[in-house]
Amino acid sequence: MIDKVYVPPLKNQGIKTKLVPLIRQHVVMENGAIWIEPFMGSGVVGFNIEPEKAIFADINPYIIEFYNQIKLGIITPEIVRSYLEKEGKLLAQMDEQHYYFVRERFNKEHAPLDFLFLNRSCFNGMMRFNKEYVFNVPYGHKPERFSKGYITKIVNQISHVSFLLKSHSWEFICQPFEETIGMARENDFIYCDPPYIGRHVDYYDSWDESEEIALHQALVESNAKFMLSTWHHNDFRKNEYISSVWQDCEVTTKEHFYHVGAKEKNRNPVVEALLTNYPLNENTKMKRAEGEQLNLFDTLTSK
Ligand SMILES: C[S@@+](CC[C@H](N)C(=O)[O-])C[C@H]1O[C@@H](n2cnc3c(N)ncnc32)[C@H](O)[C@@H]1O
Repeated sequence: MIDKVYVPPLKNQGIKTKLVPLIRQHVVMENGAIWIEPFMGSGVVGFNIEPEKAIFADINPYIIEFYNQIKLGIITPEIVRSYLEKEGKLLAQMDEQHYYFVRERFNKEHAPLDFLFLNRSCFNGMMRFNKEYVFNVPYGHKPERFSKGYITKIVNQISHVSFLLKSHSWEFICQPFEETIGMARENDFIYCDPPYIGRHVDYYDSWDESEEIALHQALVESNAKFMLSTWHHNDFRKNEYISSVWQDCEVTTKEHFYHVGAKEKNRNPVVEALLTNYPLNENTKMKRAEGEQLNLFDTLTSK
């Protein structure tokens, strides 16, 4: 079985494209349930689950503004094409000078199209900000980035998401996770993908034990079904929070490569975990007591 996964127009460092098939397999939504995603990031998970009703939220205001402008028809595929053709030409002519010009302009004006441009031409498609929320990712050094084919690819991604937004009842809200989880009703489904505790730590993605505990508590208090993405272990250590904070959850795992650097040696294999507060399909469940680990889905993914 090959699961088609739609890739959205904005990328980020924790993007879950490769985990969508596994997540999709374990989502259990009742009739009338709302999909609630408090850490939407790129949105790739919910956009592929395609629930009828959804609340997508994130603390990053630029992601939310980007999707709200698509929803309102302010950003359209045609507008994206002509913007990227113009800015792409300038990038090809002026190289990094233009990248840093757009970065400065974005940090003053916060235009969503500039956010898209930076996201697709910065180093490794990262979203990173300093503590004043200034976008600070360096240039990806690809002056020919916005080729005709690449622009068409992005425009198609915009077209698909525009279509999804027209045909579904989805809201995009900028707020901290506590408020988003507070909106859940008992039969809703909450999918959480917070910054990974003990891993990517910077001002933008800072996440500590108190937040991990607060997240668990908010989820339990919501009484909704929930699923959490986190890391299980890598070659050097394991995520101790799975057996402490999340000990009341079911666990399934999957091996995954994170591309956190251009160099091969920086690509540490990480075993990803999905935790749920409801029973998982019998055949993919991890038997906690035996520490047995199943990697059943390698055929669905590539590195
Ligand atoms: C790992 S990323 C989510 C990735 C997403 N699932 C994807 O596939 O693209 C975590 C997201 O959580 C957001 N975030 C960090 N702290 C938050 C908080 N306290 N409340 C809400 N969102 C937060 C970040 O802005 C980031 O977009």
